[in-house]
Amino acid sequence: MNLCVLGAGYVGLTSAVCMAEIGNNVTCVDTVQEKIDNLNKGVMPVFEAGIGEMCRRNMDAGRLAFSTSIEEGVRGSDVVFIAVGTPPAPNGDVDMSQVDAAVDTIVRAINADKIVVNKSTVPVGTQAAMQKRFDAESSYRVEVVSCPEFLQEGTAVKNMMHPDRVVIGSDSGHATEVVSELFKPFGGEQVIVDPQSSELIKYASNAFLATKISYINEIANLCERVGANVEHVAYGMGLDPRIGKQFLRAGIGFGGACFPKDTQGLVSIARQNGCDMKIVQGAIDINTAQQMRCYEKLRDVYPDLRGKTIAVLGLTFKPGTDDVRLAPSIRNVKALLQDGASVRAYDPVGVGNFKREVQGDITYCDSPEQACENADAALLLTEWPQVRSMDLAGAVGAMREKVLVDGRNVFALEDTVLKGVRYYSIGR
Ligand code: UDX
Repeated sequence: MNLCVLGAGYVGLTSAVCMAEIGNNVTCVDTVQEKIDNLNKGVMPVFEAGIGEMCRRNMDAGRLAFSTSIEEGVRGSDVVFIAVGTPPAPNGDVDMSQVDAAVDTIVRAINADKIVVNKSTVPVGTQAAMQKRFDAESSYRVEVVSCPEFLQEGTAVKNMMHPDRVVIGSDSGHATEVVSELFKPFGGEQVIVDPQSSELIKYASNAFLATKISYINEIANLCERVGANVEHVAYGMGLDPRIGKQFLRAGIGFGGACFPKDTQGLVSIARQNGCDMKIVQGAIDINTAQQMRCYEKLRDVYPDLRGKTIAVLGLTFKPGTDDVRLAPSIRNVKALLQDGASVRAYDPVGVGNFKREVQGDITYCDSPEQACENADAALLLTEWPQVRSMDLAGAVGAMREKVLVDGRNVFALEDTVLKGVRYYSIGR
């Protein structure tokens, strides 16, 4: 089929590349000229395993093109995907301006009957509102389908090529059939529901996973008080298939472009509909506090951080991505700088993005070992393989004071190197 994808961020680019990979002709459109110029040169706007190679292969095969012209993209396609950003507005509501702008342009450009598939994470009722607009403003038949995306950064291509499920929310039998056929080559169970349920499945899934993390972090904090080990507790819990092992890793909380935004978005959608989401609000509050656990543990060691040098190992919100959006590192490093400490930071790919978020007395280092040189303490914030496999003995040997706060429980408590190190982790 001929497809147009509006937006070349994580969701849009991955959708475009994977849809081309299974044989469709895809035009991916973004309004940022530089991004499109780079994509046309084969330079990816995101750090994502496998996407560059798959993208170039499909461009060479003539199935994938990039453009800044929404009109051209829309006119040349049967199905238009909306995959633009829906960032949080300052009051916690979902900022829909990019989705609204995409609808405006489709209305202006449309030249035939089309199906519009919404992949952006949007409040419940958005499909209905979009459908109403197209019905009122377009002389062609436009059928709007909700099809939320569940990809994880770092494994986006794998998630899209082999989905657990494909959720399709539509009131139209015809549109459901077309979208269902389009996604069939990827496999996964297709969940065909009304648009409102489809839109809510996305928020409810992300908020549930975020809640699972906050739950284990709350248990971790209790473990510290009662002398239990959260890893043992999580293992024992996870063997019950009703609970499951995943997303029970205690640490310094969740960050990234989705969990913080979508938990807040769900609370806000619920409030607008007269519901009070107490559990999700609790998960948000726990996470806000948890993100500062490393800093707090460090402050217990050094009530006065003036003149101290602190190594920060890992800046991205998780390994495998260059994304630092709402990463715990931002709040922790800002607090350290505010208290008068100097920071020696290491991250294999996130430095460029981090520099745009935080400025100050920060030295960027090429390795975790180098970051630890002459530091008074080290905070481990992201469990990168390079950090997991670092020369721990060499690194602590080169530190001025041997204080290590491990926010991701990377090192084994039995590690003999940790003898003589003041080592703090989460819930152990
Ligand atoms: C998430 C969802 O997993 C995905 O389905 C959705 O489409 C988008 O949001 P992503 O933001 O890429 O994906 O990251 P994810 O791997 O889910 O991790 C989110 C955060 O939770 C990270 O900061 C990670 O460090 C943290 N996390 C995850 C934990 O602290 N403990 C865990 O056990 C799992």
